[in-house]
Amino acid sequence: MSESSDFYKWFNNISLKLGAREISFKKIFKYLDSLPNPIIIVETGCLRKKDNFLDGQSTLLFDKYTLSRGENSKIYTVDISPESTKICKEVVSKNVEITTNDSVRYLNNLSKNFLKNKTRVSMFYLDSFDVDWRYPYPSAAHHLKELVAINKIIDENTLVVVDDSPAVGNLTQNENQPDQPWKILSSPSPLPTIGGKGFLVHEYDLINVGANFLTQENQYLFRNLA
Ligand SMILES: C[S@@+](CC[C@H](N)C(=O)[O-])C[C@H]1O[C@@H](n2cnc3c(N)ncnc32)[C@H](O)[C@@H]1O
Repeated sequence: MSESSDFYKWFNNISLKLGAREISFKKIFKYLDSLPNPIIIVETGCLRKKDNFLDGQSTLLFDKYTLSRGENSKIYTVDISPESTKICKEVVSKNVEITTNDSVRYLNNLSKNFLKNKTRVSMFYLDSFDVDWRYPYPSAAHHLKELVAINKIIDENTLVVVDDSPAVGNLTQNENQPDQPWKILSSPSPLPTIGGKGFLVHEYDLINVGANFLTQENQYLFRNLA
């Protein structure tokens, strides 16, 4: 889609509000631009508060994008909270299919249906189960379960994004040079990796799949090499 399209005119106006997600959302849309129609996006964790761009407003962004693409492009989103799905319905268009359910159960059923109908998914955007930054395991495990549920319908072009997955590392600073940038603590400290919601998904990718990273800002984006 060209930069002069209605979508990019709208997006470029609001993109600064996205903060740490601005760059990765730009990369997401550029990547989707390279795929043929229809664009099919499946999201876990929907928009839950109107105008709260700090959360991402992902469902609204994807809604605007797919409406601009047309030709049966569509969004599927799921959220366990009836309050979240109610707010989301008030904000987005009818082109978004909104379901209230646990995301893992939902994705299992969706995968079976999509396999049967041969529906190809352009992107999965995984952003359910809020992360506790001091103890990310429950959230990271939930997102790994989501990956298991969709594993069979990820193809070589499907982009998978896990939100709230910044790079984390063991850093140190020389107390005599407090103005110098922080340094990565050298061996035997482990190298920097992905934290937050995506940390187990990332471990799985690295060890088992050899997925191809696209970026590592606040969002973890990858494509399978399969
Ligand atoms: C960070 S918010 C989603 C924000 C949204 N993607 C955005 O950009 O505005 C996380 C959402 O995940 C939902 N959630 C938590 N656990 C879930 C589960 N097991 N299944 C589905 N949704 C879940 C919460 O109700 C909440 O609305």
